[in-house]
Amino acid sequence: MSNQADDRVIIFDTTLRDGEQAPGCSMTLREKLRVAAALNDLKVDVIEAGFPAASPGDFESVQAIASEIQGPTICGLARCHPDDIEKVAAAVKPAESQRIHVFLATSEIHREYKLHMAKEEIIRRAVAGVQQAKSLCAQVEFSPEDASRTEPAFLADVVAAVIEAGVTTVNIPDTVGYTVPGEFANLFSYLKQNVAGIDDIVLSVHCHNDLGMAVANSLAAVTAGARQIECTINGIGERAGNCSLEEIVMALKTRADYFGIDTGLDTRKLYPTAKLVSTITGMSIPRNKAIVGENAFAHEAGIHQHGVLQNAETYEIMKPADIGIKANSLVLGKHSGKHAFRDRVQSLGFDPSDEELVRAFDEFKKLADRKKELFDADIEAIIMHTGGKQPGPWSLADLSFSSSKKAGAKAEVTLIHNDGRSITASAQGDGPVESVFIALEQATTVTLKLKKFQVNSVTVGEDAQGEVTATAEYNGESYRGHGVSTNIVEAGALAYLEVINRIGRRIESGTPSTGGDKTKTAHI
Ligand code: KIV
Ligand code: ZN
Repeated sequence: MSNQADDRVIIFDTTLRDGEQAPGCSMTLREKLRVAAALNDLKVDVIEAGFPAASPGDFESVQAIASEIQGPTICGLARCHPDDIEKVAAAVKPAESQRIHVFLATSEIHREYKLHMAKEEIIRRAVAGVQQAKSLCAQVEFSPEDASRTEPAFLADVVAAVIEAGVTTVNIPDTVGYTVPGEFANLFSYLKQNVAGIDDIVLSVHCHNDLGMAVANSLAAVTAGARQIECTINGIGERAGNCSLEEIVMALKTRADYFGIDTGLDTRKLYPTAKLVSTITGMSIPRNKAIVGENAFAHEAGIHQHGVLQNAETYEIMKPADIGIKANSLVLGKHSGKHAFRDRVQSLGFDPSDEELVRAFDEFKKLADRKKELFDADIEAIIMHTGGKQPGPWSLADLSFSSSKKAGAKAEVTLIHNDGRSITASAQGDGPVESVFIALEQATTVTLKLKKFQVNSVTVGEDAQGEVTATAEYNGESYRGHGVSTNIVEAGALAYLEVINRIGRRIESGTPSTGGDKTKTAHI
């Protein structure tokens, strides 16, 4: 499509803002920092790190990411309110490259029912917001929310006004996932033709997936001149989600012959990043998900397998290695040393700190004692579950349980607190998992309401590790924990204990919710 060989599209990742805003996807500060580091490794251009005015926790996490992540531009979202804009400016200040993203809805339905504002007032506020942001930060982005349902002529007036006010990027959102590719491309062409100064700013696209067309609509916008794509890892986001980063990046790479536009991303980091976000949020990746789903490169039909063995290109349009998927080969054993372990971890696309590596190696050794064969997926699971985790206050020292039809289920747990206390509690329940959970609650005196209990198998075989994600409610807030073990009940216990530990750390530190743990309400 593009004639310029060096044409480049900016990848603006909003996993930590629009993605994190989705129910069940909230992350703690540490988790956000881990995701931001992975996005940095992936070489995204812009990280939208949060919405600082939404909560003190959001402010803190945007500020922490701006301080720790050097490379990408760090951006924060603001309504066209002076206080929101000041908060973003303060939060992104530590970053080398900073951006304030202001937004205001422009469609008739939003003007009339949400904002109660006439067209002139919308333009006045958008311009004032951009001018204030511009006085605080060189890079300013403006989004006319619900742009795809806004009258095109009015949209053009708004875009012209914010360009005049000094904006550097104008983002055109399909906020409710309503548009279709041809129509959206026409809207971009219309703006290109009718807005003075539009070639001097970056035109951006932001699509939601309500009709399953977020990636297609974003690509259509690129063909009509958009040079920034807003997207999220695994497509997480409000309702049906946002444009999926891995899908759009691989579409541009695989069909470079058609689009002629590069993203500059290290695509070999796509798979580890997708796995990380899935583990952290507990949103599992569907098996048939394009690019990173378990079946994306699996060939079941004999005729396909035969073709792939002769020449992979018969049925494969991308190489698994380009996405960072390694053959699930048998890897290390219990005699492998730390160096071999580190090499393997790095070749899988992870870059843990020394402290994380020591913890992960410890877990690896324990697992190697229990499991006959260790695969890459086992190592991935260890890294996901040990990295970035805050220790304690409680750790699981021992666990026993029994279950029979006649006698029912019983469990006993022994926990050790950071302060040296050791507590043993036993309980009976409806099954071994419930008994363990009740025993954990008794030992820690924290009572939870379990909301979700998800089990995944990390690899195949009867000694495969089980990965459990538990979501539970405490004082009306939602917390998540993960656990992995060859014993599913133990994996459940570790996940539940992680939830209890998160609550314990909050109580001990006396801090209000960081916004990372709780399901947020203060949003757009
Ligand atoms: O979907 C949307 O309109 C948004 C804007 C805030 C960019 O997320
Ligand atoms: Zn959005």
